[in-house]
Amino acid sequence: MRTWVNGDLLTDPDAPAVAARDHGLTVGDGVFEVVKVVDGRVFAIEPHLERMTRSARGLGLPDPDLDAVRRGVAAVLAGEQLTLGRVRITWTGGLAPLGSDRGDGPSSLVVIGGAMDPWPDTAAVVTVPWPRNERGALAGLKTTSYGENVRALAHARSHGANEAVFANLQGHLCEGTGTNVFYVVDDELRTPTLASGCLAGITRRLILDWYGAREVDEPVEVLAERASEAFLTSTTRDAQAIHRWNDRELGAPGPITTEVRKVWHEREPELLGD
Ligand SMILES: Cc1ncc(COP(=O)(O)O)c(C=O)c1O
Repeated sequence: MRTWVNGDLLTDPDAPAVAARDHGLTVGDGVFEVVKVVDGRVFAIEPHLERMTRSARGLGLPDPDLDAVRRGVAAVLAGEQLTLGRVRITWTGGLAPLGSDRGDGPSSLVVIGGAMDPWPDTAAVVTVPWPRNERGALAGLKTTSYGENVRALAHARSHGANEAVFANLQGHLCEGTGTNVFYVVDDELRTPTLASGCLAGITRRLILDWYGAREVDEPVEVLAERASEAFLTSTTRDAQAIHRWNDRELGAPGPITTEVRKVWHEREPELLGD
């Protein structure tokens, strides 16, 4: 693993890197992206950089310096030919007072890159008792304020599952802690709209473009009780079939999930960079 902070590659990737008063650390005032690396090439970096800028604007942070981000990504990957890896880019509020007020110093930019193991082919999912707030100030932004996801994923793990899924305040299906959700009802592939409060996942968008699905908001019980198959999507999982939703077993991968995965593997090379 390699770590690059504000222009410098650290000799020890786990050495202290940002100030103790960095607003990202004290109050989670930051945004981030995770980008996949396949055979040494970065996948779909442009939409990730665009989303990071959108998240920063939504949170009220300055726009990230994308040239600096690209330098950081190149630095953590230099000389490595990762078969499968990931790069995490974090942009925070920088030095600040101890409360929620921002300071006037520069933001911090941290880039970490390294190998990753592929996810298992299938996942077990539970719905959690806490809602996603689709009307909140941070809805749809990829901020470092992930405490609710941490809590929900720990809940899922303690129930023998690998991902937790939220409904929103209306009780409609929203998203997982680090994933979007697709499901099949009456032979139709569906996924929540962005109005559900879910993150505008890059993988979600590509599957909508490359395969197609109906964007619709409906009670999470529709999926839990009627779906014939379902899958999770994310940058690191691609499309991961769901074999259990709460106590209900699902055929995994189902036929549509298998087709989506096939299309994904055919088209993925189109978005691999240099
Ligand atoms: C909350 C949340 N939803 C959905 C996703 C999936 O988005 P993407 O496909 O861009 O990785 C992620 C992960 O990035 C996430 O953290």
